[in-house]
Amino acid sequence: MKGKIMGLRSVEWKDNAIRIIDQTRLPTRLEYIYLKDLRSLRQAIKQLRVRGAPALGAIAALGVYLGIKDARCKDFSALAARLDKITSYLGSARPTARNLFWGLEVMAEAALENKDQPLSRIKKILLRKARGIIEEDRRSCRGIASYGQKLIKDNDVILTVCNAGILATIDYGTALGVIYRAKEEGKKIKVYACETRPLLQGARLTTWELKQKGVEVTLICDNMAATLMRQKKISKVITGADRIAANGDTANKIGTLNLAVLSRFYAIPFYVAAPFSTIDTDTKSGKDIPIEERDPGEVSDMFFRRRTCAKGIKIFNPAFDLTDHRLITAMITDKGIIKPPYSLNIKKKIAKNAHK
Ligand code: MRU
Repeated sequence: MKGKIMGLRSVEWKDNAIRIIDQTRLPTRLEYIYLKDLRSLRQAIKQLRVRGAPALGAIAALGVYLGIKDARCKDFSALAARLDKITSYLGSARPTARNLFWGLEVMAEAALENKDQPLSRIKKILLRKARGIIEEDRRSCRGIASYGQKLIKDNDVILTVCNAGILATIDYGTALGVIYRAKEEGKKIKVYACETRPLLQGARLTTWELKQKGVEVTLICDNMAATLMRQKKISKVITGADRIAANGDTANKIGTLNLAVLSRFYAIPFYVAAPFSTIDTDTKSGKDIPIEERDPGEVSDMFFRRRTCAKGIKIFNPAFDLTDHRLITAMITDKGIIKPPYSLNIKKKIAKNAHK
């Protein structure tokens, strides 16, 4: 499989369907699947065949086009009704990542702005818009990387959780993008990847990606992070984000909060890397972010392969946690670094970029 990561694209529109890398098959197999209808798309999202906030934004946008491309609507209001249905259907696949809803909203707005155009033209515009979102993700990941790499020093040892890399975006990554860029700048970097129970995105995906990209990586179980920090082996923590509230509280993969609390105790900078599309100013604080709870089988049956606890044991399986903004040293975004106080500085950054 060596070398296959070059030119890898997690999500794209190809042969009149959505082509994704089936992330449940990695690291043993790099397999692409084609999603040709909304039902299989929603299933793929729910089953984490495609995952990671920015990738979900892109696939949601392509999903809107997939859902209308063959629709025979008599007028715009019939098309709008269909778009509403698609939006609620895909929007109910997973509740936490802001980008999923952002992708759906951008598409609905694009349709509305063009409501006076012939329907065949609106369809073309929507395909162009969805492809534009994919290109925007590629650009914004590079923006994040270029701001973020300035924070990285030669010989830094970075701890990360889950997968916020190529597979979670289109082709570069957010937290991992910062690492790729710093390496491209010639900095020596080592990475520790938390395995990320229960679905092992760190073990299965992050270590695979980093190895392919030639970044030195060591895999740890999630409960080993404290020991590494106590031994002064970690100089920075960088994670991705699924949703950032207006006050900076951040939802990300379960286990992120543990790392943030530990980082504060051991005085290690804790960074969150995310595109602007992950920021949700309509959500005031973390307590308003819905946290997905997933199938208990993910916990009891080690990635659905082998049971690890007695039958009938009660299980709690939240997919994400909330990191209080006070624990975040800075946010690395595609529009620059945002430092505390987040309520004020997120607003300022948005206002500044609205005029660009
Ligand atoms: O459940 P997942 O695998 O979709 O969770 C993904 C994460 O938590 C990522 O850190 C986040 O989406 C940012 S990806 C750039």
